[in-house]
Parts: sequence; structure tokens; C-alpha cells
Amino acid sequence: MARYTGESRDRVREAVDFVELVSARTDLRRAGQSRYEGLCPFHEERTPSFGIDPVQKVYYCFGCQAAGDVFTFVQETEGVDFKGALELLADRCGVELEREQEDAREAEGRRGRERLLELLARTSAYYERCLWESAEAGRAREYLRGRGLGERALREFQVGFAPSAWDRVLLASLRSGFSEAELYATGLAQRSQQNGRPYDRFRARITFPLKDTRGRVLGFGARALGDEGEDRRGPKYLNSTDNTIYHKGLHLYGSDLARAHAARAGVTILCEGYTDVIALHQAGIRNAVGLMGTALTTEQVGELARMAPTVLLALDADSAGQEAMLRAAELAKRRKLRLRVVPLPAGIDPAELVQREGSAAIEQAIEGSLAFERFQVERVLAAGDDSSDEGRDRMIDQLQPVFALLEPGPIQMELTRLVAGRLGLSERVIEARLAPNTALRDRRQSRADPRTIGLPGAGAGQPAGAGAGLSRREDTERAFLALCIASPEQGELALSELDVEAHFTSELLRRAARRLRGRLREPLRDSGEEAQDLDADPQLKALLAELIVQAGSEPANPTMLPVQRLQLELALIDRRIQAARAPEPQRAGEPREGEQQPSESASGAPAAGEISELAVRRAELKRDFDRAYERALEVTG
Ligand code: CTP
Ligand code: MN
Repeated sequence: MARYTGESRDRVREAVDFVELVSARTDLRRAGQSRYEGLCPFHEERTPSFGIDPVQKVYYCFGCQAAGDVFTFVQETEGVDFKGALELLADRCGVELEREQEDAREAEGRRGRERLLELLARTSAYYERCLWESAEAGRAREYLRGRGLGERALREFQVGFAPSAWDRVLLASLRSGFSEAELYATGLAQRSQQNGRPYDRFRARITFPLKDTRGRVLGFGARALGDEGEDRRGPKYLNSTDNTIYHKGLHLYGSDLARAHAARAGVTILCEGYTDVIALHQAGIRNAVGLMGTALTTEQVGELARMAPTVLLALDADSAGQEAMLRAAELAKRRKLRLRVVPLPAGIDPAELVQREGSAAIEQAIEGSLAFERFQVERVLAAGDDSSDEGRDRMIDQLQPVFALLEPGPIQMELTRLVAGRLGLSERVIEARLAPNTALRDRRQSRADPRTIGLPGAGAGQPAGAGAGLSRREDTERAFLALCIASPEQGELALSELDVEAHFTSELLRRAARRLRGRLREPLRDSGEEAQDLDADPQLKALLAELIVQAGSEPANPTMLPVQRLQLELALIDRRIQAARAPEPQRAGEPREGEQQPSESASGAPAAGEISELAVRRAELKRDFDRAYERALEVTG
């Protein structure tokens, strides 16, 4: 697919209201001239470490290091690729994207897909018209009314009716210029086994269009009118077959309508089917989506994770099956998705509950949701036999997979206590059998070093190549670049005085320094002279985002710039002295550029003359550094 032009990307970037975009995921609070902060939408936390720069439109989390720009944000939160994010934002902002010249085959493929989507959209509109206008759909209307679903909600979901004739969609589509091949490709028509002739797949059924998160119809679920035992041909629900547009298990029913509500509420309600979703939306519970009969897939968990951090499972307890539930929990855990269970009366789905007892009943059930693990533990305890050793053993076996999901912590302790109490065993025994790894994990966690923050100059004398030394050196380099961004005028000067190749430790930081030269005010800008493709370098983009947010997190203090620059000079000279003193064999495979080895070092003889020369130079630098530092302190003090 031909790429969109850099100008297009810039126009979208300019058009996006970044604060609004991010606010859909987390509450932001103004925290400075060019900074907002809030709880990080990418990891769980109680105090905000997530910051955005509303002007440059970048974000960075000091806690989990998530970083990026408007496009990355959409990529991460909506689970689309770069192109998807660009298109989605362009769509929302009404910006027309232009492509670099597209090659003929790509253009054709795109047009082909657009035509299929159009065919699906037209067919959906046709079914909808049939439901409300055709005499034949009388029974369908009655049935839906009987299920308590009103016209407004049905129209919102574009529920329709496929007439019983064999060729309505077929003929109308052919007449409008669509081909038989296109009808097969969308799954709207299929070929007769007997005579090879095409006919409509959906007939005499209530149709539920399945849409992607952007609201485009991808396929249909179609319910037969009769219930079991009545004269009903085929299965209760007939769905679109998998094709290039629709893939079973990739989507959630109603996600286009629920998305914004779920984001705002921080919670998505997951139920089983079409009718549940529509009934909940009708009851004012707008953050509900549906599974459409499949076990939860990885893709669906991904989509849920993009919608909101918590999912309430409003599933029929027996239908999903415990195995499937645990699998879902496993998948959810990997995505840091919190699962809770809405307790429903046995054999009753949300749609029925709303219909029988009104929306207050479902609201109450939602209020009473339990953490997934607690629900599972309660369920096992309630169903098991605790009167015999065998019974208790069996319960412990059943609890094992649930406990395996738990992190060491208060919830695990509480549930251990609960189980111990119910089974009449000591907590120690329960812990040994259900959480055998706790002790080990605790020990590993407490070993993590508290991060030491170095004063300027503290990096000097670090053993070269040691992990801590290296990262501290990089911190200094980052801090310098952030300062340049914070005071672009002085920053340009300071940046031009440095030898990028020699002063920056990693290639990534060197790329950043090179990119920032001459564009400190708008580091992300894509178009213009020497346009580089930043979107092809996500690491660089993330680093720039981090630097920009860092730059905005404190008031600009240009007097710190020379301090940081001299700091870099000092670090460089220290590396040189070290190398001259103890010529280290370079680690195989990773020659560190910029760390010039003195020529003598190859022979192994320390070069006394060179060392003293470097030492003199170092002393001068140190003096300059101290002076600059003092000046900086005066200004801040
Ligand atoms: N489903 C399906 N194919 C089936 C049965 C179910 O695709 N043969 C999916 C549908 O998406 C359905 C969901 O699984 O909405 C839940 O199934 P069920 O509870 O049986 O259907 P309901 O939507 O509740 O439909 P109804 O109550 O009208 O029978
Ligand atoms: Mn149901």
C-alpha cells in the first residue's frame, strides 16, 4: 500500500486535540505551562506519573516508560498499526490523507475492499428497511417486541430482517453493479450445491450487523424466528462465514457504540450475545459489548484492554465453562486487564434479567460484581464437599488454577484466609498448597535496587561499561537533550558545540541528537527539508516524546545548559582517561563508537604522557563546570 505523505501526517497531527484524545483514557490535570498529568493509562498506579505535552502532542510515563505521540497513543490504545492510527485520526478530524504515488495493484486492492464494505453497508440498510417496512417482517417485529427490545435501540444497532425470498440481496446488488464474486466475497450469497447457482445466505432471519470499532459493517449474525422445535431451518444463529473482511473471534459486538462510554467509565461490560448487548444499551448501560458465542480470544482481550482497564463479565455462569473463564483470566492478566464477575441468577442472561426485573436489577447486579478470583474461590467453596478429606482435596485442586493467577499481596492473603477458614485447615497449609511460589517471588522483588539519582558530576569515575555507570551516563545525556528542548534558543547553540558522535553513548541517543539539531522547537515534524521518516523509527519517536515531556516537567532553566554540556565533556574525558589507564579489551561484537581508544592502548602499555595531558584538560573542565554550576544555582536559588 502506498504510503501517506509526510504533509498528510503533519496535518493530522496538527488537527488532533491531544488533550481530548488522552482524556478519553485518563483524567488529565493541568500541571504547568506545557504539561498535563494524570494516572498512566498503560499501567496500574495510584499516583500520577504520566505526563503529556499538549503542544508537541507527546506523552511519557515516568513509571512505565510508555512514550510516544498522537499516533503511537492511538496505536497502543486502539490496537491498530501506524497506518490504522493515522487513518482513524484523519477520519475523526476530517483531514484528507494524500498518498505518495500508489502502485496500480495496491490501488486496485484498496478499491476492491472499499467496494465490499459498501456492499455490506447497503445490504445492512436494506435489511433494516425490511424489518420496519415489509409485511413479511411482522413476526420479527413482534418477536423483538416480545423480547423487550424497542425500536430506538434496534435502530441504533441497525437490526434488520432478511426476507425469505432466495434472491433479494443478490438481484438488488447485481442491479447496482456488484458482481457475483463480490457477493461471495462478503458472504452475502453462496452457491447452490445442486445447481451451482448463487442465492442469498440470510433468509427469513433477524439480522444483527457486526461492525468494527469504526462502525463499518463487516458481516451479520442472523437469528431464525422460530425457537427450538418449531419449524426452523438451520441453526438458531447463522453467522457470516470467515472472509477477507470478517473474521470470527476478532470483534466484539457493539464495540463501536460502547467504546467511548467504556473509556469514560473505565469499565467494559462483556456479555454473551446480541440481545444482551442491545438490552443493556436500552437500559442505559452503554458500555456493554458482546462475545457472539465464541470463547474469548486473544484479539478480543486485546480489544477489551484498549477500551478500559476493567472488564465486568456478565456471562451466563455455566455457558462459558470454567476452563474458558480461566483462559480468559490468563489472557487478561497478560494485558493487565482487571476482571470482575457480575453474579447472575443461574440460567439467566442480562437481557432476560432486564426484561423480567427492569434495569434496576441489572444495575444492582453490576454493583455487586466480585473480583474474578474471589468469585471463582466462592464458587468452588460453595459447590464443593468440605465434609471429607477427599472432598477438601478436590476443592484445593480446583482452586489451584485460580490461585496461580494471583500476585502475592493482600488479595492473595485474604483468599488464603477465606479458604483456610472454610476448609478448617491452617493458613500455612493452604499457602503451601496453593501459593508455593510466594516466598520466592517476595525475595526476588526486594532485591531490586532503589534507583540512585546522581548529582551532576556524580557519574565521574564510574567503572566503564558497568551497567549502572552506563545508564547513569545515558541519564546525563538525556537530561542534556531535554534541557535543549526546554530552552531551544540556547539549546541549538549548546547542541551545535557538541560532537554528537563522541558525546553520546548509544546510537539511539545519537540519532536523537542529530534529529534535534535545527528542529528543537518541533522535533516531531515530518515534512519540510530533510524530512526523515520518524514513524519508521518508533524507538526514536518514543525517546523524543520522553525528552519533550521531561523538558516540560520543570520550568526552563537555560543556565543549566552549560552545566549539562560540561558534564558531558567531563564524562567523555573520564572515559578517555580510563581507557588510557587500563586498556580494556573491547567486548566482542559491540565496539562502542565514540569511545575512542588511545592508539597506545592496543599495545597494552599505559601512556603516561597522554594520561597527564588528559588530566590537565579534565581539571580545566572541572573548573568550568563548577563555575557554571554555581551560576546555575544562583539563578535558581
Ligand atoms: N450464538 C451463535 N450461534 C448459535 C448460538 C449462539 O452465534 N448457534 C451466539 C450469538 O451471538 C448469541 C450468543 O451466542 O447472541 C449467545 O447465545 P444465546 O444466549 O443462545 O443467544 P441469545 O442472543 O440470548 O438469543 P436468544 O435469547 O434470542 O435465544
Ligand atoms: Mn442468551
